[in-house]
Amino acid sequence: MTKRLFITTYGCQMNVYDSERLAEQMRLSGWSLTLKPEEADFIFVNTCSIREKAAQRVIGYLNRLRSYKFKNPSLILGVGGCVAEQEGHELLRRAPWLSLVAGPGRLAEIPSLIETLTAQSPPVVVSGRANNSDNKPLPLFSPRLPLKDDCLEQTKPDRSALTPFLTIMTGCNNYCAYCVVPYLRGPETSRPFFDIIEEAKILLNRGAKEITLLGQNVNSYHYNHNGENLNFVSLLKQIGHLPSLRRLRFTTSHPKDFPSQLVNLFHSLPTLCEHLHLPLQSGSDNILKAMGRGYDRASYTELVDRLRQKQPNLALSTDIIVGFPGETEDDYLQTMETLRQVEFDFIFSFKYSDRPMTKANFMEGKIEEGEKARRLNLLQALQKEITLRKHHGLIGRKIEVLVEGPARNPGQLTSKSRDFKRINFYGPSELIGSIVTLIVTEAWPVSLMGRLS
Ligand code: 5AD
Ligand code: SF4
Repeated sequence: MTKRLFITTYGCQMNVYDSERLAEQMRLSGWSLTLKPEEADFIFVNTCSIREKAAQRVIGYLNRLRSYKFKNPSLILGVGGCVAEQEGHELLRRAPWLSLVAGPGRLAEIPSLIETLTAQSPPVVVSGRANNSDNKPLPLFSPRLPLKDDCLEQTKPDRSALTPFLTIMTGCNNYCAYCVVPYLRGPETSRPFFDIIEEAKILLNRGAKEITLLGQNVNSYHYNHNGENLNFVSLLKQIGHLPSLRRLRFTTSHPKDFPSQLVNLFHSLPTLCEHLHLPLQSGSDNILKAMGRGYDRASYTELVDRLRQKQPNLALSTDIIVGFPGETEDDYLQTMETLRQVEFDFIFSFKYSDRPMTKANFMEGKIEEGEKARRLNLLQALQKEITLRKHHGLIGRKIEVLVEGPARNPGQLTSKSRDFKRINFYGPSELIGSIVTLIVTEAWPVSLMGRLS
């Protein structure tokens, strides 16, 4: 009987990609995926440590998973991702019922580790980078794996087959003062150029219409091939021209590395969608400096102007942290002002939270929780107003969308525009996977309603 695997993923898209890769490798070793934890032989939790709250959630979740172990003592429980990397053996102390703890750089080893692991054997902890003696960048998985087309359970194209992620690089060298990622995911490592192209072709053969390239800082992608320096722009051009690809996206970009050739692609590469996620973090020059971001408000907004000149339809989203150590009321108001000035389409916003090992962790001038919450609430209220205003302006407009699947409301389908707006509409399920035109009929803060045009 095939063994069953249940995976829960927290955190970023890189984790989603990692989980999908793991599922794929496990399928090749004869496992099948289940959506029911109670029938699993192996439960794997892929975790995130970006903010304290995210990391704490994991411990609560592991406590809940323990109950499955009472019902099925041979169940193997494993933790991966950034909390696994950060906590290592400490996780075993807090959750002694775990059999496996594997950092994000060791994911590719799980299928073979699981072969020898039983619920009774001593737990295994692997972290850091795998042994890499010839010093070549180590991909997260072997791209030369026999990627059979039947690996993905897809009778119809499902959402991940239709709009898959593709990790092009791992790690980060930026060491922003608040961020734990460089400590957990290691130094920036670009995957080999032609492996990425190969993987993109496989994804397209399996029905992908839209591919999102992933990395902590995709702009600094570079790969040396026979003396030729291949960069992110070369990669976008190659993938963007693959036949049958309809849409290309990427995330995340650092504003400090944004060459004009990349700005130009938003105009010249037709598959590149009109949306960019460009983390600002703060609108105050003092705070940006303390964060070590390498740009100031003026150079950020100037980049936005250049992007909008090249592509007037470009939607922009961003990440904001409020309450960074030492953030004064004036610093905070400058962030508010920058939101008014740039008018992002949407934002992700967070209260600063201390992370181990980071520079900010040791900074003075920590802001009190209540004050951080006040700043966050006001900021989110302001952005809600801006987003809603933009969404209302779309009512009556015709928008091209990719139909992704059924919406939560029965009878409705959910779709995405090129500029990353979610639009639901009533339509037949045969439309899933196709590109159609909708007329926007209603607007809410996070989505729109439309009808077939
Ligand atoms: N506290 C709060 N938010 C953080 N982020 C990263 N580290 C922290 C932290 N210590 C946010 C940043 C980043 C996003 C992924 O998470 O805004 O862009
Ligand atoms: Fe979370 Fe960052 Fe790790 Fe992604 S890389 S899982 S966001 S800590």
